[in-house]
Amino acid sequence: MSPDQLVPIARTAAEMSYSPYSKFRVGAVVVGSDGETFTGANIENAAYPSSSCAEATAINTAVAQGVRKIDVITVACIDAKDVDGAYPCGRCRQIMSEFGVETVIVTAGDGSEVREHTLDELLPYQFEL
Ligand code: THU
Repeated sequence: MSPDQLVPIARTAAEMSYSPYSKFRVGAVVVGSDGETFTGANIENAAYPSSSCAEATAINTAVAQGVRKIDVITVACIDAKDVDGAYPCGRCRQIMSEFGVETVIVTAGDGSEVREHTLDELLPYQFEL
């Protein structure tokens, strides 16, 4: 699937965000190796560290359905002003690494600016066992 197809799916997923504390809605869509897609949104908690990022929600949803290899993840921070403020956190980059993510697409605001990276660019020297 192309970024043009994936960005609207991630943006729609962001509308499902439960983010009463930050009011920063994030959505993600992952594409598994068989082409199936899974979405997620950030889910916050009054005990802040118990929150889940959108990327982790989407990846964990896919993995719980049996997916073990994810090719692409698209992340939409619809409340971010610009794409510089829309990049995945370090923890999510490590979770992406575990499931073989190759391509990370990021977008912010209205989705007009879209950037595409390899995970190797965002997380060099990945830790694996
Ligand atoms: N967040 C994500 O879901 N993904 C990101 O890539 C960056 C941050 C969430 C975590 C928290 O719910 C809110 O955005 C503000 O940090």
